[in-house]
Amino acid sequence: MESFIFELMEIHDYENIFFCQEKTVGLKAIIVIHDTTIGPAAGGVRMWPYESEADAIKDATRLARGMTYKCAAAGLPYGGGKCVIIGDPKRDKTEGLLRTLGRFIHRLGGLFLTGIDVGTTLQDMELMRIETPYVVSLPEALGGPGNSAIATAFGIFQGIRACLKEVYGSPLLQGHTVAVQGVGAVGKELVKYLVEAGAVVTVADVDEEKVKQMAAQYKVNVVQPGEIHGLDVDVYSPCAMGGILNDQTTPELHCKIVCGSANNQLAEDRHGDMLAQRGVLYAPDYIVSAGGVISGMDSLSRDGFKRERAMETVSHIYKTMGNVIAISKEQNIPTYRAADVLAEQRIAMVRQVKSLALL
Ligand code: NAI
Repeated sequence: MESFIFELMEIHDYENIFFCQEKTVGLKAIIVIHDTTIGPAAGGVRMWPYESEADAIKDATRLARGMTYKCAAAGLPYGGGKCVIIGDPKRDKTEGLLRTLGRFIHRLGGLFLTGIDVGTTLQDMELMRIETPYVVSLPEALGGPGNSAIATAFGIFQGIRACLKEVYGSPLLQGHTVAVQGVGAVGKELVKYLVEAGAVVTVADVDEEKVKQMAAQYKVNVVQPGEIHGLDVDVYSPCAMGGILNDQTTPELHCKIVCGSANNQLAEDRHGDMLAQRGVLYAPDYIVSAGGVISGMDSLSRDGFKRERAMETVSHIYKTMGNVIAISKEQNIPTYRAADVLAEQRIAMVRQVKSLALL
């Protein structure tokens, strides 16, 4: 028997894939539940004009598994999932489509908890929320966390502090040099934290307008986008696109620490090995970029979203990054592997606890 989907599911042991279709509103969506050992699956809704259904399934499965690791390592009581809508967010997104997806998510009865991702906005979540309470990203005016970038940036800041502690013996930013690649939603908030803490910051962005705005607002140096990764700095913080640690860039790094928000920074795992061999401390992206998810999940608290409590929880990323470094040293493995070990240990522990015959 020819098998594509079940084979794919077996590789990393996925629990469910739900296909959602409603032709009257043009909805074609896929919800993947990777692992719910720790709790209901958390993951955003991505809308993208995938070239094929296979591409959509592959993307959704990869992202859902990433969420399992992100939530497990962050100490959240959630597993990993993801929803992808096949379509162009600029052309195909309608109220009908979003509310229909909301109803499908509602049908899962809380198995899948969702928020924004590439191609969806807080306004889209508001529409889905009409149909289901299992949407966590909502605008501040509706009692939600609002823009997740602030919490994400705060988490990156905590990751940088943990790395500085390891490399220089103190988490203080004062006088340290940091190169921030990309001053979009996360990057610009990070620059604010860094400058306020006394770091010497250099920025680059392909969008010249954004760089101008940063330079007008803060005392920062500006370089061309092609130069930022190679600067002789203490910390290089990639906050733009993924795959930035690759065969070309990795040998050109002159930093001691890489810690940023960009997703999937390692083009391949071996680039994580290369960094370790070169003595560069790499903060695994899913460990330090968990601030947005951590903060979003606070909305599920009984008393609703509380920013102060959410940011306090995000600050635990400092300790989590410290644990990753400790595992990396104890087991003599690169930090990207140590992050996976941390997540897998927590999943195994919860599985063990749940198997106890206490009731
Ligand atoms: P954004 O789109 O607001 O900002 C990205 C910035 O990078 C833009 O200003 C863009 O012009 C710039 N850029 C693109 N290519 C560049 C290049 N080659 N060199 C320099 N700058 C370049 O995105 P956002 O929300 O700030 O996210 C940044 C990264 O962090 C993304 O990889 C995202 O997936 C990841 N992330 C974001 C989270 C969030 O809460 N927004 C949460 C977790 C991860």
